[in-house]
Amino acid sequence: MVNITVVGVGHVGLVSAAAFARWGHQVVGLDDDPAKVEKLRGGQAWFYEPGLQELLDEVVTGGRLQFTGDAKDALQDAEVVFVCVGTPPMPGGGPNLAFVEAVGRTVVEHASRDLVLVEKSTVPANTGRRLEQVIQRETSRLGNSHRIEVASNPEFLKEGAAVEDTLHPDRVVYGTSSDVSRDALRRVYAPLVEQDGCPVVETDVPTAELIKHASNAFLATRISFINAVAQICERVGADVAVVAEGMGHDVRIGPRFLQAGLGYGGSCFPKDVDAFAHLAKQVGYDFELLEQVARINVGQRDTVIGKLEHELWHLTDKTIAVLGAAFKPGTDDLRESPAIHLAQRLREAGAEVRIYDPVALPNVAIEHPELERHETIEGCLDGAHAAVVATDWDEIKRITPQQYLDKLAYPIVIDGRNVHDPDEMIAAGLRYHSMGRRSVDL
Ligand code: UGA
Repeated sequence: MVNITVVGVGHVGLVSAAAFARWGHQVVGLDDDPAKVEKLRGGQAWFYEPGLQELLDEVVTGGRLQFTGDAKDALQDAEVVFVCVGTPPMPGGGPNLAFVEAVGRTVVEHASRDLVLVEKSTVPANTGRRLEQVIQRETSRLGNSHRIEVASNPEFLKEGAAVEDTLHPDRVVYGTSSDVSRDALRRVYAPLVEQDGCPVVETDVPTAELIKHASNAFLATRISFINAVAQICERVGADVAVVAEGMGHDVRIGPRFLQAGLGYGGSCFPKDVDAFAHLAKQVGYDFELLEQVARINVGQRDTVIGKLEHELWHLTDKTIAVLGAAFKPGTDDLRESPAIHLAQRLREAGAEVRIYDPVALPNVAIEHPELERHETIEGCLDGAHAAVVATDWDEIKRITPQQYLDKLAYPIVIDGRNVHDPDEMIAAGLRYHSMGRRSVDL
């Protein structure tokens, strides 16, 4: 059993804390947002994630996971402290690491024994070194005699599958600078490795940081690659879904993350691609490929607008039903959501926008009150001049051609996530366009 403190109980921090507790460790979650702490103390998750509430029910009730807003309490017995605070993007391109630095200072102030400080937030390679400097400076300023070592343990969980990904990861990666910190992380992950036989990559701190950068940038590159291929497919009459299937059978390529559409969003890929490009520049390498990956991604939204304009000519005063608001299914997260960006672009072009989402509407109400919300698909489609599929929720996949025909004023559907069958939609009489597949005559 290891005494663990997790600083920051957001998506990564809360799920990780609950998983550590499930593996038998004693865990404290520390956060400076009193509303979150209060909710969590009552055993309630403050955001939606499949399986999270059940996991909290088990570990909070069992007393293995506690929450506090008091740093001194949280760090009292900590042997391993995970930094899971936010690293929001800054206007210049890099992430804002002020919260990470602040955790470093707080930990030195309250450490009551030797401990390992582990970065789990997605941070640029070299943050480990920066944290070491902070610790050295603060240790000599405060005269704290405890040894604090910095390690990196990047997180690879996906929103919407965070609990599953954390309890059964493809791999665990940690970078350490001594046997002491390596052994501490071995003890943290021992129950998982014993149960699941999950592969472990043990390395140094900068390499662990780079594994995270490279993994996210590579996945984003796959998505932009297939989206660029989709553009060519449209122009030569090929079907990108079948191209992806054909490519995916090659075991060197594999089938996943080759789904063409509106592109990637969320709190990770857009920010991480920019941060990696920014880091590369800082160290003297122009990683132009990543700039193209981001450019292709945003360009997918123009493609959808182009298709709408092709059908409707002007968008001014046209009512467009946007189906889906979350950046992907299985979450209510709107951060960098392509659906929301598209809705905003449509409004700028003069359209009236309505939006439907099975779980994210409360967040739309708070963050984008300008968008007209609809609780049902039928209500959203009713009388609209066109529909755009923006998030591939199952509810949206199940819409039949007849439902569109019955409700829309004009039978126009732009499928930004390739969820419907083009032959069926076109045969039913819809003006159907998707991304890189057969469309109604252009
Ligand atoms: C991503 C990574 O997949 C995780 O491994 C990583 O830990 C996480 O970022 C992070 O750095 O914290 P996440 O942002 O939750 O996870 O979402 P993904 O499932 O990766 O989807 C990202 C976006 O790509 C979504 O908007 C999704 O719709 C889009 N996408 C995904 C596609 O457009 N095509 C695909 O084939 C796959």
